[in-house]
Amino acid sequence: MATSRRDKADSYTLRAHREGYPARSVYKLEEIQQQNRIVKPGDKVLDVGAAPGSWTLYTHRELLKGNGEIIAVDLNPLNLNPVPPTVTAYVGDAFSKEIREKLTSHGPFDAIISDAAPMTTGNRTVDTTRSEYLAEQVVWLAKEQLKQHGNLVIKIFQGGGQQKLLIEMRKMFSKAKTLKPKACRTDSFETYLIGLDRL
Ligand SMILES: C[S@@+](CC[C@H](N)C(=O)[O-])C[C@H]1O[C@@H](n2cnc3c(N)ncnc32)[C@H](O)[C@@H]1O
Repeated sequence: MATSRRDKADSYTLRAHREGYPARSVYKLEEIQQQNRIVKPGDKVLDVGAAPGSWTLYTHRELLKGNGEIIAVDLNPLNLNPVPPTVTAYVGDAFSKEIREKLTSHGPFDAIISDAAPMTTGNRTVDTTRSEYLAEQVVWLAKEQLKQHGNLVIKIFQGGGQQKLLIEMRKMFSKAKTLKPKACRTDSFETYLIGLDRL
């Protein structure tokens, strides 16, 4: 993956390289997991927007501890070599009929983790609107693919839509809240919606 000057100065990026992860985003999932126990060993996990693969690799190594199953889906291929044995990867739109049929053949899932994000344009209104639409689609996918008592993590760019989604998630889960991990860049407007214990 290309490394910008901003990345080079970042201690999370250096740590990710040292620990063998393709992206610094791994430390966001680490913090979300430490506070919420989203995934446990033996779980079947769906990772939406998984490339280049840090969340997938972290889930394999540290959360499932090699025991369980991860279905990773992204528009782009994972950059993991080798792909861990618990992982089945699909390239495509996570919300397309074709991919959803594949997901259904593996599911339902104990946890759905989504770090999916749109290509950013630099226009905050456009980027936020696209991110909200992606997040809505993940909620909809969770209605279809997440087990009762399952947990959900969704990235969203902060804007008006996040409150609406949180209200929707509160109908679906025993508990729903937002969490902005410390590993998010200080100038980033992303946050995460967490749903715990699907009703
Ligand atoms: C921030 S990256 C994810 C980083 C990843 N969690 C990691 O730790 O390596 C966001 C990803 O969302 C993916 N994405 C965006 N829309 C998608 C869609 N409709 N279906 C599948 N993946 C999508 C992008 O291709 C991109 O790779």
